[in-house]
Amino acid sequence: MTSSSATPISIVVLISGSGTNLQAIIDAIEAGSINAHIAMVISNRPNAKGLERASSHGIPTQIIDHTHFADREQFDVAVQSAIEVHHPRLVVLAGFMRILTDAFVNHFTGRLVNIHPSLLPKYKGLNTHARAIEAGEAEHGCSVHFVTPELDAGAVIGQARVAIAADETPESLAAKVQKLEHKLYPACVGLFCNGDLQLQGDVALLNGKPLPATGLDLTEA
Ligand code: GRF
Repeated sequence: MTSSSATPISIVVLISGSGTNLQAIIDAIEAGSINAHIAMVISNRPNAKGLERASSHGIPTQIIDHTHFADREQFDVAVQSAIEVHHPRLVVLAGFMRILTDAFVNHFTGRLVNIHPSLLPKYKGLNTHARAIEAGEAEHGCSVHFVTPELDAGAVIGQARVAIAADETPESLAAKVQKLEHKLYPACVGLFCNGDLQLQGDVALLNGKPLPATGLDLTEA
């Protein structure tokens, strides 16, 4: 049996906002390039546009509003329980704007991935586009990585790069990087869903072989 004819793996996607990366993953699943099924989309924000995107494709959605919880720990426990109802093989953070507790991250080790708008390990955290321009970088991009307790520090699966123009603004650069994100994330999720990717310790393995620290160059994905 080839991987493409194998049973689709179950995914849960966590969002907070517009959900354009979620949309790219939905489109790739519908096009047959990712062998997966999105069991649930969970948002911590009730008005996230990504919820409408999911619903319009018949994907169930759930709102777990972080403002209704006394602390981060209780919120994460609720999200973890809501995810585990579906026994997903992969949990995809797609613009989920909450810092997760170590307990949550450790529970999902090896099956929790994120997309970050920089060429990690450069520019962890926020305002990455402005910081890359400010620093005079020649290029910028995005990274998909396994999530580990240290923020934006887990093993990188893949990256996509773009040149920074002389007249670049944070907004124009964000638009360029988002285009890359919409190819990079489905490509990396697809590899995982085919069973090609694994996390071993703090190293990402592709077909059993360690990836370099910057992952695969998927700029042309
Ligand atoms: C993306 O730019 C991603 O890099 C960051 O959050 C943003 C999410 O955008 N982690 P969207 O909700 O997928 O449109």
